[in-house]
Amino acid sequence: MRVVRLTSEVDFAGWRSAARVLRTEGVEPHAVVWTVERDLFSPPPGDGVDGVDAPRSTSASQGEKAFTVPAAFLELAEQVILHRAADRFSLLYRILWRLEHTPHLIENPADPDMARARDMAKAVSRAAHKMKAFVRFRLIEGAAKETYAAWFEPAHRVTEATAPFFARRFSNMDWTILTPDACVAWDGERLMVSEGADPADAPSEDAQEELWRTYYASIFNPARLNPRQMRQEMPKRYWRNLPEAALIPALMEAAETRAAAMVRTPPRPPSDRVLKAAQRHARDASFGGGTPTTLEAVEAGVSVCRRCELWRDATQGVPGAGPSNSPLMFVGEQPGDQEDLAGSPFVGPAGQLFDRALAEAGVPRERVYVTNAVKHFKHEARGKRRLHKTPAQGEVNACRWWLDAERRLVRPRVIVMLGATAAFSVMGQPTRVAEARGQILPLPDQAQGLVTFHPAYLLRLPDPAARLTAYLTFVEDLRRAGELSGLA
Ligand code: URA
Repeated sequence: MRVVRLTSEVDFAGWRSAARVLRTEGVEPHAVVWTVERDLFSPPPGDGVDGVDAPRSTSASQGEKAFTVPAAFLELAEQVILHRAADRFSLLYRILWRLEHTPHLIENPADPDMARARDMAKAVSRAAHKMKAFVRFRLIEGAAKETYAAWFEPAHRVTEATAPFFARRFSNMDWTILTPDACVAWDGERLMVSEGADPADAPSEDAQEELWRTYYASIFNPARLNPRQMRQEMPKRYWRNLPEAALIPALMEAAETRAAAMVRTPPRPPSDRVLKAAQRHARDASFGGGTPTTLEAVEAGVSVCRRCELWRDATQGVPGAGPSNSPLMFVGEQPGDQEDLAGSPFVGPAGQLFDRALAEAGVPRERVYVTNAVKHFKHEARGKRRLHKTPAQGEVNACRWWLDAERRLVRPRVIVMLGATAAFSVMGQPTRVAEARGQILPLPDQAQGLVTFHPAYLLRLPDPAARLTAYLTFVEDLRRAGELSGLA
């Protein structure tokens, strides 16, 4: 019997290097026992007479047969290791062992080992998603620097794996996430991992809790109450650590009466502003030849566009991206620094926040069409940096040609305008986000419009509480757009 001592429950590197050694030496899966020994005083690696300690060299030693495994297996294994099932290490080693004689094992959905591993990977990915959505930071009173902490109990061991997400998302604040498995902390520069904690280590109430509750009560829409779906989205096991969860039972109880009152309220007719936008749109749409008839033609046109001067300083024109028949279109302002380099919209910091909010709103990004009012990056050079500059109305007007073409070709049911520039481009007149946000606006092309914040605005808000509130509003707007379009 061979005993493998891994250094932690999520020691993928250790598992991988031990599995490589065992497999090279021909040790059959049933002859291996996998253990985790975190005890600082256990014998150092290399001491075990009959054991394989991890981590060890990742390459086969001299004379041993080298072998390779499909990259898809390693990706799967990296996820499965984070599952709480005690037999995950041996399951993965068994699959690795079987790969030699069953080359297409990885692609076989009917194989019981593979089916189980895939289910486990899915559960891990879901747990990571829930952690990203449900971690709630609390301000630590009396700390020298503004510092936040959150207590969370993930369904699987995803704490270290999701930490980089929080570091990107909350890069400007100091925070710690405490979980029973591990704690991760960010000091603005580095991520640190330490032993798991006790719930008592996490701070409890603070002003933000009240904020969460006020927000949750205000966005709770009784007409859309679906308790089963709600429990699926926000499983009960997470309620304990969610400040807003305390409100759920009472809100559910009152839902029926509030929904009936909402049904009795008549819909608002379109405003003059919207009707004027409709006329303007009809006029612009009749503008001359060369109208693109496919999204490929839009892309080609954007790449050589000279309708304004912005192309001169940009790397390239950035057209929209997404399915050509998406029911939901998002319009941003203009590509940023990273979008300009990548040639795709919303891939930089604002795009990452947008992705997170979409995920929390239950809207799949791959099913939405994302574009910008202006297709070239307007900026000014400051040293080595290229600083964003808001496009002028003339530039937005010139670029509307492309946005209109995208709208005509994609024909979305719902168009979400991210910020004032997008609202100006879509509706043709200056619009204040603070006033229009959250209203459903009928658009001339039969689409429904919804104005919301631009994700970059959320990133810029200096006050954490205001940022949190605005972010939650943003997520709720996206959820609403997802529902209106049938995507969420
Ligand atoms: N901001 C935008 O408005 N669009 C992008 O594509 C990126 C950042």
